[in-house]
Amino acid sequence: MEAQPLHIPDNAHYQELKKFIEASRNVPGPLIQVLHRAQKIFGYLPLEVQHFVARELNVPLAKVFGVITFYNFFRLDPIGDHIINLCLGTACHVKGASDIIKVMEKELGIKVGGTTADRFYTLSTARCFGACGLAPVMMLDEEVHGRLNPQKTIKILRDLKAEAAGPGQTINKEKK
Ligand code: FES
Repeated sequence: MEAQPLHIPDNAHYQELKKFIEASRNVPGPLIQVLHRAQKIFGYLPLEVQHFVARELNVPLAKVFGVITFYNFFRLDPIGDHIINLCLGTACHVKGASDIIKVMEKELGIKVGGTTADRFYTLSTARCFGACGLAPVMMLDEEVHGRLNPQKTIKILRDLKAEAAGPGQTINKEKK
């Protein structure tokens, strides 16, 4: 029996990816570059995007999936608007990063690698940002937060959420 052709929506994201694939055709081994671009465009690599890449590059879907699952920077699930990256390198570990990760998991109701149901936060870990003097350290999007402890970390997360919710929503704001 012949497989049904996959329906790929003709939207701006796919057009952008298609253009990139066209430009990458003569590059040796373009798959990883194409997947990087696809993740940048879509935020993650759902099955539909994998099919599209496989079809456009004329490679088996299993190969695309194999590459995605081999490298941990590729994501199969959607990510949140804000990415938390807590360092679990030696200096940060010694200074209590594992306690911080536990309270974050509890606060957000997710495990490392997960995304909150409202897609606000994705929780990840990393190995050393080269800021060991500030241990324990996390990157919240592009911003570095150092000398963390569980309370300070939770306050940072709650404050960002409150800020996103709008004025007057800041939690734990100290009155002076
Ligand atoms: S070990 Fe965490 S920043 Fe270096």
